[in-house]
Amino acid sequence: MSTLTQSPAWLALQAHQPIMAQQHLRELFKQDSHRFNKFSLLFNDILLDYAKQPVNEKTINLLLALARQQRLENSMSRMFSGEKINNTEHRAALHIALRAEHAVIVDGVDVIPEVKQVLQQMARFSDAVRNGEKKGYSEKAFTDVVNIGIGGSDLGPVMVTEALKSYGSPHLSVHFVSNIDGAQLSETLKQLDPATTLFIIASKTFTTQETITNAHSARHWFLAHGGKEKDIAIHFVAVSTNQSAVEKFGIDAENMFQFWDWVGGRYSLWSAIGLPIAMAVGMDNFYSLLAGAREMDQHFMTAPLEKNLPVMLGLIGIWQINFFSATTHAILPYDQYLHRFPAYLQQLEMESNGKRITRDGEVIDYSTSPVVWGEPGTNGQHAFYQLLHQGTQTVSADFLAPCQSQHPIGNHHRLLLANFFAQTEAMMRGKNQSEVRNELISQKIPEASLEALLPHKIFPGNHPTTSILFKKLDPKTLGSLIALYEHKVFVQSVIWDINPFDQWGVELGKQLAGKILSELDQTESANSHDASTNGLMNYFKENQ
Ligand code: F6P
Repeated sequence: MSTLTQSPAWLALQAHQPIMAQQHLRELFKQDSHRFNKFSLLFNDILLDYAKQPVNEKTINLLLALARQQRLENSMSRMFSGEKINNTEHRAALHIALRAEHAVIVDGVDVIPEVKQVLQQMARFSDAVRNGEKKGYSEKAFTDVVNIGIGGSDLGPVMVTEALKSYGSPHLSVHFVSNIDGAQLSETLKQLDPATTLFIIASKTFTTQETITNAHSARHWFLAHGGKEKDIAIHFVAVSTNQSAVEKFGIDAENMFQFWDWVGGRYSLWSAIGLPIAMAVGMDNFYSLLAGAREMDQHFMTAPLEKNLPVMLGLIGIWQINFFSATTHAILPYDQYLHRFPAYLQQLEMESNGKRITRDGEVIDYSTSPVVWGEPGTNGQHAFYQLLHQGTQTVSADFLAPCQSQHPIGNHHRLLLANFFAQTEAMMRGKNQSEVRNELISQKIPEASLEALLPHKIFPGNHPTTSILFKKLDPKTLGSLIALYEHKVFVQSVIWDINPFDQWGVELGKQLAGKILSELDQTESANSHDASTNGLMNYFKENQ
């Protein structure tokens, strides 16, 4: 048994859980008409409503006691002051420095001047490309940018670029290639003209197999379709922490945008990894994105725990995951522009907190990160909401929506939001037996069919949801929303006593793939693996 699950705050929550579990959410609303006022928070334009969670005042106090017991505020200060809290890699975790305005010290040096310098380099470069001053080898302005990167060097930039699409330039298209599957690169390149295409090779380590392979293939395509060796310098830039590997690839250090080992891959969209975002929406909008995140950072550091959005979002997650056994968490944005937000949060949450070992190396005996998944509403309603309403799994869900549409056509936005409100209400209330019976009677369904139909039409309800409503999906609000989730993930890691900034779990597959690749090149049959892997490899060899 770990010390966490035997600790006073944990045991108190465990004792309190059955009391909350036996009350239906609709009963809680009946008992207390002030639930919304008590269990919602407003920060700038962002409203966080957790009233449809199985909580009362006592629950919140117990969750806050757990946060205090785990010394959350101390961990927050340690992160913000640049301590090396990524203990397995001996690094600070300072994505907050990428948007800070005050000094942030790493190893005795203020990193902010360097951060600002790179931001200025990004501004000069992206402005020059966007206004056509910087041209390709045939003196034509660039029309397309291809970002080649994967994981944190892809998901954040893709998500933000999609989310801010309406802020994009009509003269410059930004594409993303991440997968080692040649289909993605080929399908992207076949629409492009090398003379007007700029490649960004984005990789923190500059050793990632997918990115380096795609980068080499892009370079071959460029040279095979009219570009010359000397033009590589004009058409290829790199974003990395690894200058020597960038130079080895053939990109001049002058065309490199730097970042630092204290920026984790999945926390890097605020750094030069955000260059494709700046290309797509312009540097002013990128600065607004940073400003939104900075405001959330300040709120996180200064607001009392009970009024602190990332803290409360994190603690509600702990309540669901550890005390109500919710092993999956749905992210349901009612905003088509946020269609890549669930995929982005999958890496942020699951790569950060999908761990089974504490900071000190002990095996954990409680649940950590849930499986994160989701799709935009209303599409999801016509696909998987059946399971949310009437399935057997406990799923917790975050619903997100803007009050204002960027496309106020007809009645679309009201219809969208009507569905948002209806779904969270339906999940909470459900429809009980007597309500279904009355409905069927009023529809004049004959008695025999009524009884047969009745159980199928019951909605148990009592499904927990959290709603996040914001005024408009502009760059600043988006920055705040992303930072909200970054800090929520951090809060949960502190409660669980794990290091959210390493990712050793991705290594084994990489190692084995290296060995298998050399075996796939050989003509003889594979026989050094288990029977299944040998069989699969040999079937591939026969049929490739
Ligand atoms: O999948 C593991 C990982 O290291 C991620 O954490 C990271 O975001 C991604 O690979 C890409 O890494 P890099 O930016 O070094 O190419």
